[in-house]
Amino acid sequence: MTRILAIESSCDETACAMVEDGKTILSNIVSSQINTHTLYGGVVPEVASRIHVENISAVIEEAVRESGYSVSDADAIAYTLGPGLIGSLHVGVLAAKTLAFAFHKPLVPVHHIAGHIYANAFVSELCFPLLALVVSGGHTQLIWMKEDNCFEEIGTTVDDAIGEAYDKVARVLDLGYPGGPAIDKLAKQGKKNSDYVLPRPKTANPYDFSFSGLKTAVLQLNDRLKRKGKEVSKEDLAWCFQETALNLLVDKTMLAAKEYQPKMLVLAGGVAANSRLRELIIERAEELKGIKTVIPPLKYCTDNAAMIGAAGYAAYCHGEFGTMSDAADPGLEMPGES
Ligand code: KG4
Ligand code: ZN
Repeated sequence: MTRILAIESSCDETACAMVEDGKTILSNIVSSQINTHTLYGGVVPEVASRIHVENISAVIEEAVRESGYSVSDADAIAYTLGPGLIGSLHVGVLAAKTLAFAFHKPLVPVHHIAGHIYANAFVSELCFPLLALVVSGGHTQLIWMKEDNCFEEIGTTVDDAIGEAYDKVARVLDLGYPGGPAIDKLAKQGKKNSDYVLPRPKTANPYDFSFSGLKTAVLQLNDRLKRKGKEVSKEDLAWCFQETALNLLVDKTMLAAKEYQPKMLVLAGGVAANSRLRELIIERAEELKGIKTVIPPLKYCTDNAAMIGAAGYAAYCHGEFGTMSDAADPGLEMPGES
């Protein structure tokens, strides 16, 4: 048995977990700051790092206690090295280094997106080659994994991330923060509306994404309707935005899956919690013969430390250890990217 104590603090969740062999969660504590950031309409980096400092010790203590083990029983300390907010990352990096130093444990730095992908290991043993659709607040990527712990980006957004587009459209529609869940909910009451035609942005690389034009189109449409004194159906606009954005994501994923022929297709990241995206991926996956499709349970879609423990286990098995001089990296690239 290999036990990994994992820490995640890249954005606005302070989290710690104990994970066994990359697939069994012994504890998974997440302290969300969402109520605080909602007051400001988005994550305020300075506030986020301050709350991480206030909470991290209690979160670690609780995760260790709930696991039924002690820190000395862990084989390694995994933590998110990046990407994310620099001040937030620093807190987790320092906590991990402190534990590693005090308990003489190896350090395993983890890429946050690798964590999101490995959250699927809690559902099913991962089979390689694997294709992952990563959809979060900061990332929209198609990642090809020829084998365990090996990442290659085959597509990415050329402008906004999908989660960012959701959050900005939600702001235009006065839905508050975070926008993703609010649009998800509102779109259920909406329908196709022939007045709300939105563009499907094109990209040079067929596996790349673009959401900035779509976001601007929603903004302009909303302004135009208001100027003309027409009532805006937020439900229909949310429906049209969501259908356009998600079909774009799923179309490209299907295209890549048919071309690359992975053994497994997985969904990853905060936007993987979206009910319509989950529905669409499962529906469309029927086109893919012989490819197993996995979506993570809702609680492992958004930021948590169990996923860092799972990705940390893969890195640990490949002997990828960090040092005391590793520094938080807000723009960290995927391992294998150049
Ligand atoms: O992965 P995550 O928790 O943090 C990052 O690593 O960025 O993703 C956060 C993003 C936010 O943009 C949030 O609006 C979006 O995930 N999100 C959703 C849903 N739940 C969270 N987007 C669409 N539908 C949802 N149900
Ligand atoms: Zn995330």
